Amino acid sequence: MTINTGAPVVVGVDGSDAALDAVRVAAREAEHRHRPLRIVHAFSWPLTVADLGPAPFAAETAGLRDEAEKFVAQAVAEAGKVTPDVPVTGAVVDGAATPVLLDEARDAALVVLGHRGLGGFAGLLIGSVTVQVSARAQCPVLVVRGEPRADGPVVVGVDGSELSIEAVDFAFEEAARRGTSLVAVHAWLDPVVLFPGAVVPPATDLAAYADDERRVLAESVAGHAERYPEVSVRHELVHGSPAQALIEQSRDAQLVVVGAHGRGALGGLLLGSVSHAVLHHTQSPVAIVRHARTGEGS
Ligand SMILES: Nc1ncnc2c1ncn2[C@@H]1O[C@H](COP(=O)(O)OP(=O)(O)OP(=O)(O)O)[C@@H](O)[C@H]1O
Ligand SMILES: [Mg+2]
Repeated sequence: MTINTGAPVVVGVDGSDAALDAVRVAAREAEHRHRPLRIVHAFSWPLTVADLGPAPFAAETAGLRDEAEKFVAQAVAEAGKVTPDVPVTGAVVDGAATPVLLDEARDAALVVLGHRGLGGFAGLLIGSVTVQVSARAQCPVLVVRGEPRADGPVVVGVDGSELSIEAVDFAFEEAARRGTSLVAVHAWLDPVVLFPGAVVPPATDLAAYADDERRVLAESVAGHAERYPEVSVRHELVHGSPAQALIEQSRDAQLVVVGAHGRGALGGLLLGSVSHAVLHHTQSPVAIVRHARTGEGS
């Protein structure tokens, strides 16, 4: 029997159905990765502007805390039904959701979140906690949208950056585990004039650009494909907007994988424009990959 050890898969719960969907997905991820599962609810006292700390004597808020303990216990039970062999812990942690989850991400192999939670307005595609944690977490984040479909490929966005190569690795692993195929999408735009006086490359060079871009895609995928011979791969080279290409490919996908930022990264930990657009506009689950700081070999 394989023992689930090392950095956990962490899932955030807020009592919503969307978070419970995320728990089921997180349990399967933990099982596959041989990691423990940690279910976390960030609890803050309602209607307080300043951080007043715990107020155990206040009957009303104490009731809310009991409620939080209850839905964490319910989430632990739900995970146990999906993956009985995965060790699961539940915790109610004092603090606002985003900082608590970002803190959890420091020691996590993966953070899993629902696309929505209890708040927000009808029609909102993605909640604010999920946006903020996806943008700043120090480990990969998987955003779940309902009970995931079991058909359709895994789609990965490739731009040749180091991080997109990690995204390819993540995507192969997910495709292998799900027994499905992989679509590797690389979209490229015409070279642009970046500053006044720059020479516009002649249009006839476009064929050469296309060849270069084809090479970027092939080289980004090649090494991984050898390690996952069971995963069939389709290369999708698109002359056009990367965000639009990924959003289109995501329609039939069971998962879209992107790096947190790409070749255009200005540094820092925030999301690149393609990852941002994909997170906000796809209807499928999205994995945002960044360099794992923990977990390897631990
Ligand atoms: N207090 C919390 N503790 C732990 N995880 C949370 C908490 N709040 C939200 N989450 C996680 O984030 C996901 C998305 O919830 P989020 O709060 O971002 O959306 P929302 O409630 O629909 O909108 P709003 O931005 O108005 O809060 C949830 O499914 C859950 O996984
Ligand atoms: Mg919320």
